[in-house]
Amino acid sequence: MKLLVCGGAGYIGSQLCKMLAERGDTVHVLDDLSTGHREAVRWGELHVGDIGDTAFVREVLDQAQPDGVFHFAAKSLVGESVSDPALYYRNNVAGTLVLLEALRERPCPLVFSSTAAIFGEPDTPRIDENHPTLPINPYGRSKLMVERILDDYWCAYGLPSACLRYFNAAGADPAGEIGEAHTPETHLIPLVLEAALDGNKTLRVFGDDYPTPDGSCVRDYIHIGDLCDAHLLALEQIMQAPAALRYNLGNGDGYSVKQVLRAAESVVGHAIPHRVEARRPGDPPQLVADASRARVELGWRPHYPELESIIETAWRWHRNRSY
Ligand code: UFG
Repeated sequence: MKLLVCGGAGYIGSQLCKMLAERGDTVHVLDDLSTGHREAVRWGELHVGDIGDTAFVREVLDQAQPDGVFHFAAKSLVGESVSDPALYYRNNVAGTLVLLEALRERPCPLVFSSTAAIFGEPDTPRIDENHPTLPINPYGRSKLMVERILDDYWCAYGLPSACLRYFNAAGADPAGEIGEAHTPETHLIPLVLEAALDGNKTLRVFGDDYPTPDGSCVRDYIHIGDLCDAHLLALEQIMQAPAALRYNLGNGDGYSVKQVLRAAESVVGHAIPHRVEARRPGDPPQLVADASRARVELGWRPHYPELESIIETAWRWHRNRSY
């Protein structure tokens, strides 16, 4: 197939490009390289530009003639979304509208990167697709707005779509060629591994007074390769039976920050310096997915159900990273 990956220079998008190319698809990448990496685009033709630029997006669609589009291009830092909401609504909502308008002229199915942040502060141990959506920050709201827009585009214009709500994307390319490289880095696992590699760094544990078994926040870590598998299955699904679908994607197991730290210590083989600090504003105590729908409807099966095996792939990348 011919496929367009918007945001294909980023952490998860680049992994998907690799998987698509390996199965023989023709891959085009649209990315403004604002947070993605040119070095990560090795498996497709890169078109550098802004998803909010109508002429550019039309031109890329004309060239790529895609059978399907994956849309990862978004700002994704919760804290930044609180201090600069305009950036999030402009990029994540208005930018997506430009893509959607172009897709009305040249329709094809769309798989959209959504997030557990649309659920806000859930009170259930596991979150399924029927859980109320009450995002507590502009990032989550921007993603939920697009989900609603996609529902309306399906009803009014028949544009098929699948919204995939990632819980905590983690790990790296098992071959170690590409991986997580954010600037600044705010995510737990890369920061734990940086502290393991650099004797001058200490991991800050944000709060140990949450209502969780050990007091630190609990998250559901899911390997990026497993997320990418779900993208391929979701695209196939909406190609075969056009619809507007949504799936929560996680392993269904919660790990606390302290458990992540211990698992990483066992992977790297030594203690990792850390200290407990105050809570980080906006962190819900627990976010764990109920991904039964993806398992049943898509036949999705994560290959990395164990936290340590996810961290191992990240460790391989972080020790020898090339960007
Ligand atoms: N944490 C620390 N120390 C750090 C970094 C993180 O203790 O230096 C903790 C956080 O407080 C949180 C957990 O580790 O409890 C995971 O934090 P991440 O920043 O890795 O991930 P988040 O759960 O905050 O964010 C993820 C996605 C976001 C999404 C959010 C939904 O990365 O895109 O879930 O709440 F918006």
